[in-house]
Amino acid sequence: MAETFYITTPIYYPSNKLHIGNAYTTVACDALARFKRLQGYDVMFLTGTDEHGQKIEESAREANLTPQAFVDRMYADIDQLWKRLNISNDRFIRTTDADHEKAVAEIYQRLYDQGDIYKSEYEGWYCISDEAFWTKSQLSDGRCPDCGGEVHLTKESSYFFRLSKYAERLEALLESGDFVVPKSRANEMIQNFIKPGLADVAVTRTSFDWGVRLPFDPEHVAYVWIDALSNYITALGYPNLDDDMKKYWPADVQLIGKDIVRFHVLIWPALLMALDLPLPKQIYAHGWLLMDGGKMSKSKGNVVDPMILTDLYGVDAVRYFLLREMPFGQDGNFTNESLILRINSDLANDLGNLLSRTVAMIEKYFPQGLPNDRQAGPEDDELLGLAEATAEKMADALDHYNFSAALGHIFTLVSRANKYIDETMPWVLAKNEDDRPRLAAVLYNLADVLRIVAVLVSPFMTETPGKIREALGLKETDASGLKLDSWESAKKTGLFVSSGVKKGENLFPRLDLEESLEVLEKIAPGKKEDETEPEEEVPIVEFDDFLKLRLQIGTVINAESIPKAKKLLKLEVDFGKEQRQIVSGIAKQYQPDELVGKQFVFVTNLKPRKVFGFESQGMILTAQKGEDGLTLLSILDEVEPGAAIS
Ligand code: MSP
Repeated sequence: MAETFYITTPIYYPSNKLHIGNAYTTVACDALARFKRLQGYDVMFLTGTDEHGQKIEESAREANLTPQAFVDRMYADIDQLWKRLNISNDRFIRTTDADHEKAVAEIYQRLYDQGDIYKSEYEGWYCISDEAFWTKSQLSDGRCPDCGGEVHLTKESSYFFRLSKYAERLEALLESGDFVVPKSRANEMIQNFIKPGLADVAVTRTSFDWGVRLPFDPEHVAYVWIDALSNYITALGYPNLDDDMKKYWPADVQLIGKDIVRFHVLIWPALLMALDLPLPKQIYAHGWLLMDGGKMSKSKGNVVDPMILTDLYGVDAVRYFLLREMPFGQDGNFTNESLILRINSDLANDLGNLLSRTVAMIEKYFPQGLPNDRQAGPEDDELLGLAEATAEKMADALDHYNFSAALGHIFTLVSRANKYIDETMPWVLAKNEDDRPRLAAVLYNLADVLRIVAVLVSPFMTETPGKIREALGLKETDASGLKLDSWESAKKTGLFVSSGVKKGENLFPRLDLEESLEVLEKIAPGKKEDETEPEEEVPIVEFDDFLKLRLQIGTVINAESIPKAKKLLKLEVDFGKEQRQIVSGIAKQYQPDELVGKQFVFVTNLKPRKVFGFESQGMILTAQKGEDGLTLLSILDEVEPGAAIS
């Protein structure tokens, strides 16, 4: 029986259309899943949608739909996107699936029965007119700091997951081995959350309805993370421990973005410990895909809509770019220009040309097919040696999630083959009848290398391998019956057998850089000339005045919404030497969980002021986005919290 390999993506919030950043995680998982299948593993590749919660409930209300109708509509969009990107998931889980909901209720019940979940209370001073809770110290003269109304001491109940109980085991887990990759992310978790004392987490709410109701207390609905995280096991049939759970659990790798590390390396293993289940073998947290500061970021929901890019350049170009351009563990910048340049240099020039030149020469010089009378030459060893070694190099890179290096190895082989054409000069060999056996060997070697390349690119590109094989007229198996699209066949040269080459269309037509950039910019919803607002008069500031402003990078370590203040989020921000509370009007654009662990730009020497009763000790900087939207200012590389900006 084949060895199994279970790989998962995070499950996506269907509150908005998915963007290229979400596609990045899914394409990376897909490439790994395809690679493992190629190597003969029995792969289970899971993705899905995280469909419950307040945000979805609100988005549905805004769209005038029931939450279920809303998520059904968003799901259809996501399904279409993954089909367009040729994502080969074996299963798709929706947290609204009846099986999942039932399993979540059972998980809560079990945790409750064994004392891992307990009911507790937020205690606060309640202002009836504002429907808001305040702590004693927030009150102003014993009254509501917001409206000045009367307040009453009240309690609101919530269930808490006893995360603190698992602190020691979690610390040991994160310190040893490579449960979390890159390791630096594990260290951050130890320093920021475990060392200061791991707090229990609230895992139910009574303030909204769209979620799984607790069987033992139906006033409460499951809140976000236990519901979401358990998808990785409920998709395998949990609580049934036979069948797929037995076959595929524990997961071999779970890919996530660095913003959701905390949930996956603290709450998730603790939940599994509580359920007495083995832990996943590895959690890999990748960096973010950043949009370039200019036009691209304005059009986040448009140009960087993976659907549009795929329509313009084809699915393989988009998949290739995503995995080639950015080193996977780190942040990478997405620019229109880098996309076009990559397509032109690697795909059109190197790979596309290699195929079209090879096929054209075989067709021209040997219209009846390549003869068996072939003569080896001094230029062959290096090319063929590299061709046989590339599969292992690529596998090694992929085993370390280094997609870019894996593709780099394949394209080194492609470049080497192009160089081989320059060295052997087939057009010169073609002039002399005596050189025909050598000419046949040169073209055979080129076709053979392309055969290998078609296998090697198959985890990353989904349409190109078939096109290469078709152009080469490649047979399905060699004389011994070895399949020519198999991993084994990619490690050997001399297997090329053809039923006749066929010149087809260019694999990747070369793009005109300027024209393409113009097209991309037009698609971006920028302001039209005639709508441009008159420029504001901008006051000139003395340099010394500018220097008075203290700008620093801070890491968000906690973020919470403020009851009844729909626009506000309360952030706890780490500036290295100190931590500050900062209240900001960004709740419409960002969910609290999205911000934790991320770094932003702050003004830190503003006079503290009270916002909705909370002291705000600084300001987070934002840029205007569209008519009334905003986006946060972030940085390309992670820096020490508190780093000065000058
Ligand atoms: N629903 C939660 C995950 C629950 S998993 C049990 C969630 N959803 S999300 O839709 O907001 O994000 C899903 C994934 O997309 C995350 O891994 C996140 O890091 C990733 N990305 C979102 N924007 C991204 C970029 N710009 N670049 C790379 N990945 C990005 O969080």
